[in-house]
Amino acid sequence: MHYRVDRFLPGFPHVAVISCESDPLERGILKFTRRQSEVDVLQHLSKFTCEENHSVPGAQVWTIPSKGFVIYSCFGGSHFTNISKPDVHMWSAARQLIEGVASIHNQGVAHLDIKPANVFIHPDSSRLSIINYNISQFVKPDTKLHAFRGTADYYIAPEVTVKHAEYDPIRADLWSCGKTLEEIDWLLSTTHKNETSFLAGTYCQLDDGADDPPARPMMSEVLKRTTTFESSTLKRPRSGQSTLLDRADKQGWN
Ligand SMILES: Nc1ncnc2c1ncn2[C@@H]1O[C@H](COP(=O)(O)OP(=O)(O)O)[C@@H](O)[C@H]1O
Ligand SMILES: [Mg+2]
Repeated sequence: MHYRVDRFLPGFPHVAVISCESDPLERGILKFTRRQSEVDVLQHLSKFTCEENHSVPGAQVWTIPSKGFVIYSCFGGSHFTNISKPDVHMWSAARQLIEGVASIHNQGVAHLDIKPANVFIHPDSSRLSIINYNISQFVKPDTKLHAFRGTADYYIAPEVTVKHAEYDPIRADLWSCGKTLEEIDWLLSTTHKNETSFLAGTYCQLDDGADDPPARPMMSEVLKRTTTFESSTLKRPRSGQSTLLDRADKQGWN
């Protein structure tokens, strides 16, 4: 199949939108990166082809000797903040984000830049993708980081901004995920009372521990509660999550 470059994204000269010549609706993204670690993390996450994996869809990598890498991914859609009917998509987005972050952590990766700008929703399938593994890291349950990582913005955990302080990268993700869930919750109208109050309870727990990161519940725990809430309150039982939760139990992530 032949593809052509449709456009470069404003503000992202290293990212191009491409489309298939015979089917312009089949779109993809090409991203240039110099970071071997970004490629390693993406290739690692791409191995897990289960529904709970919300990392970049269809990732492929080409090496450009002594320059870097070109990463192809399927078009993930647009930011959830641009979705035209938030009430139709937002609960599903929240649940998929929880599932996706739990899955990334379960595969031994801390994303370290979770924020709305890195969360995409496909307009047709409503499938959520978590993109941008620029500063992500392979971690073990006891991994600690020192250096400042991530973008210094609203979504970054407070302990990450303290110079030279030690922090737990997984707990830092939990904070950022809480802030992102908070934004999703704002988009849900008050007619979805049960969902908004469940989400508010969840993001408050994730973001409450400003001085106490270990108090933040692990994502696999949040996912368990979300599954229970869906089946008991929303009466929407979900299948397929038991494998993720079983693996999380075995690997000591909760
Ligand atoms: N799979 C994707 N689907 C849709 N848009 C994407 C995808 N990957 C990247 N983009 C677009 O490219 C931008 C930059 O990509 P990202 O991986 O976040 O790079 P950066 O490290 O520069 O932030 C994103 O904000 C988004 O607009
Ligand atoms: Mg980004």
